Amino acid sequence: MRIHKIRRANATDLDDVHRWRNDPMARPMYLNTAEIPREIHRQWFSDSLHNPLRQMYIGIADDGRKIGICRFDYLPAETTAEVFLTLNPEMRGMGLSSELLRMSIDTLSEPLGPDTRLWAKIRKQNVPSVRCFLAAGFQQCSHKEDWVFFTRSL
Ligand SMILES: CC(C)(COP(=O)(O)OP(=O)(O)OC[C@H]1O[C@@H](n2cnc3c(N)ncnc32)[C@H](O)[C@@H]1OP(=O)(O)O)[C@@H](O)C(=O)NCCC(=O)NCCS
Repeated sequence: MRIHKIRRANATDLDDVHRWRNDPMARPMYLNTAEIPREIHRQWFSDSLHNPLRQMYIGIADDGRKIGICRFDYLPAETTAEVFLTLNPEMRGMGLSSELLRMSIDTLSEPLGPDTRLWAKIRKQNVPSVRCFLAAGFQQCSHKEDWVFFTRSL
């Protein structure tokens, strides 16, 4: 299985992203571990698609299946962007995550300029995520309580 392409998220991804976000294996890895009701998600997703400071990319496999979503939240005042990655549960454990992350970073568009620093906050026990971010060129920069922080330049 390989990643065929990366494209911007659009309204057709609403329900897939909701399902991936609410997956019982994924939820404990987020800051907000609660199940997200569909209406709350629908509003958030719709706002996100129109938010110029948020970019969301979907990876598509060579068989056409959606691999997952990579999201960047840009903070212009700090010239940083926080990165979030969630795979389709059906596509996990296939070694696709770091490639999705790298390809999404390579696809980033304005206003994220070349001096933007990327960072991610990951639960210590989230071994696949830690390995994924390291493989995509991130380095651990600090840690606090249950979380480790990773950073990378563009
Ligand atoms: C984190 C996540 C994106 C990783 O994707 P994945 O498909 O599970 O992981 P991959 O198959 O790409 O493997 C990534 C690395 O973790 C390792 N790994 C995968 N599953 C593992 C497991 N259960 N235990 C230990 N290591 C594991 C792989 O061997 C690989 O390491 P390597 O490159 O050194 O060989 C995915 O599990 C996910 O969506 N989790 C829920 C959301 C989340 O935690 N997001 C991260 C916070 S932003």
